[in-house]
Amino acid sequence: MASDRPIAVGLLGLGVVGGGVARALADKAAAIEASVGRPVRLAAALVAHPRKRRSDVPAGLRITGEPSEILDDPAVDIVVEVIGGEEPAFGYIQRALHHGKHVVTANKEVMAKHGPEVLAHAAEHGVSIGFEGSVGAGIPIIGPLLRELAANEIGAVNAIINGTTNYMLTRMASDGLEYADALAAAQRLGYTEADPASDVDGDDAAYKLAILSSLAFRTTVRDTDVYREGIAKLAPADFAYAAELGYAIKLVAIAKRVGDLLQARVHPAFLPLAHPLAKVDGVYNAVELEGDLVDWAMFQGPGAGARPTTSAVLGDVISIAQAVAAGAPPARPPVLDRKLRIQPMADLETKYYLRLRASDRPGVMAQITRVLGDLRVSLASVIQKEVADAAGTAEIVITTHTAKESAVQEAVTKLAALDVVLEVSNLVRVEDPGS
Ligand code: HSE
Repeated sequence: MASDRPIAVGLLGLGVVGGGVARALADKAAAIEASVGRPVRLAAALVAHPRKRRSDVPAGLRITGEPSEILDDPAVDIVVEVIGGEEPAFGYIQRALHHGKHVVTANKEVMAKHGPEVLAHAAEHGVSIGFEGSVGAGIPIIGPLLRELAANEIGAVNAIINGTTNYMLTRMASDGLEYADALAAAQRLGYTEADPASDVDGDDAAYKLAILSSLAFRTTVRDTDVYREGIAKLAPADFAYAAELGYAIKLVAIAKRVGDLLQARVHPAFLPLAHPLAKVDGVYNAVELEGDLVDWAMFQGPGAGARPTTSAVLGDVISIAQAVAAGAPPARPPVLDRKLRIQPMADLETKYYLRLRASDRPGVMAQITRVLGDLRVSLASVIQKEVADAAGTAEIVITTHTAKESAVQEAVTKLAALDVVLEVSNLVRVEDPGS
């Protein structure tokens, strides 16, 4: 006989996202019950400091500092993990699965580092694991990869998947904000990780790309497989030259099949202004996928913040609760049956932007172009400007045709060693993914 007992949710974490989940579960109780066919109730929330006064959580919510009150409580059906970070979150997820509870998590770090183990553990215990909130916050992307696009052979994933850095880069480009002010603004809006270094150094995007590329290419991609470079070296001058040359600067996350190899990389890039990803501004994220059947499909939406992440987390809760209410078995876990090797970054072939400071005297440009020419790096454009506050100094900006990463890196080392070069200020890849 079907039960009409409420489906009980245990919440791990009551921070920015956890608070949003608690409030939305209460505010939308009637609509969720209508969609599930049974009430879905928040049983308790685990916090680090249970005595702290909280004004913004639903009245009557049971708050505990004891993990076992949720993880070991047989009455809890679904555990929602929104603590973030690797531990104790990973241990809690595994314990909840072990006790036969379905789990919904927004934890990209756990899924990027331990995804295959978590999926196997869920399958072993006959329960579901939802992780839509782990990538792109409010954008539905895990679900489409697992279901709606499952018939496709995916060739490429091109994405902007860190809301904090996209917000910062947008403000730096359009409002001329300094790096520190842009970061402070992103923190005020609740976009950043507990340690914002994870955002600005590219780690957060690398976690998300590991998750996306594992599902897209049906292979295990760990966070450590993803090459990453952050945004800290970008200066106002780079934004000015990008605009002059017709580009936007974005922190891109690119995964691409190259024969039996997989490219997986996160780094700042110049994107032509007409490229769809160049137009994704502010906290918005976007994921562009190439599938053999669908061709190109792009998913776009708010990529950080409490409400968009709550949207994804509750979507998973509702779909698991519907299956529980119907007595349906959990969906088959994603199949990661391929063994693609990661292409070494040194073998990457793309275009580059190079900004350097050099002495402004005869023969300097010839020395610089000789270094590049000897390494078969072909120039696409050269800009030279006098530096107003440093007499006898020129800023030189070079863009290249497609060249090999190893050659360009060697050229940078050789250029930096020239007497006439005062500083290699920045090297940024110039991409036109999908073209
Ligand atoms: N700090 C993350 C971001 C939050 O800025 O994208 C969403 O994962």
